[in-house]
Amino acid sequence: MKIYKKELKKEILDNLVSQVRSGKYKEINEEKVKKEVIKYLRNTPAIIDKLDKKKERDALVKNIKKTLYKGIGAFAKKTKEHISTQDRDYDVYLSIFNITGFPKKIVDLGAGLNPLMYDKLGCKPEYIAYEINKECVDKVNKFFSDNKIKGEAYCEDVLELKLPKADVYFLFKLLESVELVKSHKISEELIKSTPSNWVVISFATKTLSGLPMRVPKRRWVELMLTRLCYEYNIIDTENEMFYVIHK
Ligand SMILES: C[S@@+](CC[C@H](N)C(=O)[O-])C[C@H]1O[C@@H](n2cnc3c(N)ncnc32)[C@H](O)[C@@H]1O
Repeated sequence: MKIYKKELKKEILDNLVSQVRSGKYKEINEEKVKKEVIKYLRNTPAIIDKLDKKKERDALVKNIKKTLYKGIGAFAKKTKEHISTQDRDYDVYLSIFNITGFPKKIVDLGAGLNPLMYDKLGCKPEYIAYEINKECVDKVNKFFSDNKIKGEAYCEDVLELKLPKADVYFLFKLLESVELVKSHKISEELIKSTPSNWVVISFATKTLSGLPMRVPKRRWVELMLTRLCYEYNIIDTENEMFYVIHK
């Protein structure tokens, strides 16, 4: 392929992608990593001619890992330890569905291992999960098929999807992760683009060590929802705060 008239050989690109996809990054979707590499080279095209030098390749790989870590890698490690699923107060589903009604179809974005708690829903909807970490996706699909649940998990970047219709969308502890790479604007776009009347977003209110967060109320969320004229209810649980948004 060509980047600003400079030739980037396929073997070199593939090699960079596989170098980035090592260690805790190995489960990150190959296409996502490829896009990050190409984006990086577009921003710093002078490097393309120097990619035969190990020093240059190592610096590129390190910088891309740093970007990915902010958004995904840090969470890849956390989901391995099931932190979100273990910390969640699953009675929250009843409170959520008291507001939205019981859904027939749920779409869970950046789902992690949350779908493994399907039994806690209190109803039996179709469940579609999107998650960039392939290991989580495989576990969730195995769980769906072992338990004969009408559901499917897909290894996709939620920022690049055509989203399907659903009764309720879950974006649990996702926005902070995508915003580390982009900005609040991306959260707004994501919430607006979900083809559903109900979107439930959540934020952790405690740090990993169990201390309260300094800014648990996401003021920007409330300002944004008011500006968009979306109604919302807040549900506070011990470790997590949920906004049940009606569009
Ligand atoms: C903090 S975890 C929350 C997991 C789950 N929603 C929960 O609350 O139990 C954030 C998840 O979002 C995923 N993620 C981050 N950015 C993503 C993206 N652009 N596309 C798909 N998944 C993403 C991460 O891999 C991670 O599993």
